[in-house]
Amino acid sequence: MQLKERIENLLEEARKIRLQTTEEAEQYRIRLLGRKGEMNELFEEFKNVEPAAKKEIGQALNQLKNAIQAAILQAKEQCSRPEGRQPADMLDLSRPADERTGHRHPLSQIREEIFRIFGKIGFDISDGPEIEDDWHVFTALNFSADHPARDMQDTFFVERSGSPKDVLLRTHTSSVQIRSMLSQPLPIRTLCPGRVYRNEVVSARAHCFFHQVEGLYVDKNVSFADLHDTLLYFAREMFGSDTRIRLRPSYFPFTEPSAEMDIACTICAGNGCSLCKHTGWVEILGCGMVDPAVLENCGIDPGQYSGFAFGMGVERIANLLYRVNDLRLFSENDRRFLAQF
Ligand code: DAH
Repeated sequence: MQLKERIENLLEEARKIRLQTTEEAEQYRIRLLGRKGEMNELFEEFKNVEPAAKKEIGQALNQLKNAIQAAILQAKEQCSRPEGRQPADMLDLSRPADERTGHRHPLSQIREEIFRIFGKIGFDISDGPEIEDDWHVFTALNFSADHPARDMQDTFFVERSGSPKDVLLRTHTSSVQIRSMLSQPLPIRTLCPGRVYRNEVVSARAHCFFHQVEGLYVDKNVSFADLHDTLLYFAREMFGSDTRIRLRPSYFPFTEPSAEMDIACTICAGNGCSLCKHTGWVEILGCGMVDPAVLENCGIDPGQYSGFAFGMGVERIANLLYRVNDLRLFSENDRRFLAQF
């Protein structure tokens, strides 16, 4: 084998090798750096290299030596550390993850697919807190003071002694709509993903937390037709290019008009089955034109701007794609479940 090729092979080995024990590290050191080791052999051969190639081969040899020393050093550090403890300054966050340990959670996979689909048409991503105040979750979104969603039955309130009940766990990601409109320049085209909480008894069909992705588009002349076409595009990317949708009139305090979007059932293609309760359609999301009062609450002139919004449950989409019939599976971290995705 050519000298250059041998160096390259050993360099690759040194970069990949994970020495597990002090014994293994010592064996490796002797084989490579020992008196009769491969490095000395290589340096010996280096003497015969023709002058023109000396610089390149010399550099490669030094690189190799450094990589070998680094591998040994890393093993020694790791072995001298008490089990399970990793001082923060020893963590190398840039090290590639071991591919054998774990993979993306199904809900993360779906969330990323939603990002990809809307990313292609210019949506960015916004973030907001899970612990919110009443104003962002309800008041600014046009919920009346006595709206039942505020009721203890639905919302988890965070108690602070002596203060009014205005701190809570957000019940939907629509709160991030408000934060986006207050902080971002117009036009806004954004997705707000995140976990939401509701005071529900945990069962196969309901959970006290789940995940949503909210969408918001505010610009001049945004119309309901834009909303329809955007959602049709999304449904076809997500569920297949021949997917049919329908928008049913609905009510949300923060949109006017409001609608719910169904897609033709993914199981029976609209013929009727137990998933769609024999209607041929399954509900995917809520949507509508941003209510002018909501724009005003965020300092946006509804005379000049209009917008649409939509909100969908990530677990719901996972159920449709993968037919998971027990919501609790998504948060139990049972590897037998997760390994199927
Ligand atoms: N926030 C609603 C919920 O949690 C979902 C929703 C409906 C979001 C309509 C929207 C919308 O943006 O326009 O059920």
